[in-house]
Amino acid sequence: MYEIIEKEELGASIKLIKIQAPLVAAKALAGQFVILRVHEEGERIPVTIADFDRAEGTITCVFQEVGRTTKELGTFEAGDCLKDFVGPLGVPSHIQNYGRVACVGGGVGVAPVYPIARALKEAGNEIISIIGARTKDLIFWEDRMRAVSDELLAATDDGSYGRKGFVTDLLKEIIEDKGIDLCLAIGPLPMMRAVSDLTRRYGVKTVVSINTLMVDGTGMCGCCRVTVGGETRFTCVDGPEFDGHEVDFIELARRSAVYKTQEKVSLDLYEEKGPRHDHQCRCGGEE
Ligand code: FES
Repeated sequence: MYEIIEKEELGASIKLIKIQAPLVAAKALAGQFVILRVHEEGERIPVTIADFDRAEGTITCVFQEVGRTTKELGTFEAGDCLKDFVGPLGVPSHIQNYGRVACVGGGVGVAPVYPIARALKEAGNEIISIIGARTKDLIFWEDRMRAVSDELLAATDDGSYGRKGFVTDLLKEIIEDKGIDLCLAIGPLPMMRAVSDLTRRYGVKTVVSINTLMVDGTGMCGCCRVTVGGETRFTCVDGPEFDGHEVDFIELARRSAVYKTQEKVSLDLYEEKGPRHDHQCRCGGEE
C-alpha cells in the first residue's frame, strides 16, 4: 500500500497528492509516469509524475477530477493509502541544451511540464513558458513555472487571467518575435494538436506527451497504441513523448473516446451510489 502524505487543492477540481513511494522516487526522471489503482477493484490509470523527491522518497501527482476513478481518488486524504503505484514507466524526456525552448502547458498539463522545464533549465536552455486554461480557477503552479523560466506568459480562454485567448496565440508571437529551437507541449489533445499544427508551419521541432488509456503499462496489451509517422507505437513503452508533427491526432482522439459511454455509466453509478456499488463477488459466494 502506498500512503498519501500530503494533499492540496490546486484549483477547481484539480488536486495534488504526494505519495510515499521511495523505490519509484529513487528512479523517477522528468517525463515519466506511474500507473495507479485506488483500491483492489479500481481500474488502472496512468498519471504523469509532476515532481519527485528522492531524499524524501515521494512522488507528486496532479490530476483533474473528470471520471469515476479521478473523482474517487479526489476523496483520498493524507493518511489514506493507494492500492497500487507502479513506476516509473515510460521513456524519460530527452534533456539537452537546445537553446531557446517554449514549454507550453494547457490545463492540468502544466504539472507534467514543470519537471521537464526544470530539467531543461538546468541543462542551460532559455525557457519561455506559456501556461493556459479555460479560466482563472484552473491556473495553478504559476509560481513553480516562473521559478524555472526566463519568461512566463499566461492565457485564459475567457480572459479572466493573463491574455484572453489560447496558448497558440502567445506561442505564435514568441516564434515570430524571437524564434525558438524546441517546443514542448502538454495538455488536452486539441491543444497539443493545435500547437503542433502551428509549429509545423514554422519548422519548429515539437514534442508532445500523450496520456492514452492504459492497462498493463508494459507494451503487452496494446491498449495505448498510437500512430506516429505512420507506424504503430505504444505510448507506455515508446512514449509518452512523441514528435507532435508525426502523431495522428485524429485517430488518437477517436481511440480516447472509445469508452466514453461506459465511463459515463460508471461515473453516474458512482455519483448515485458511491464507491464499490457495482462490486461483483468473484469468490462465488453470496453478497
Ligand atoms: S498500456 Fe498496454 S501496451 Fe501500453
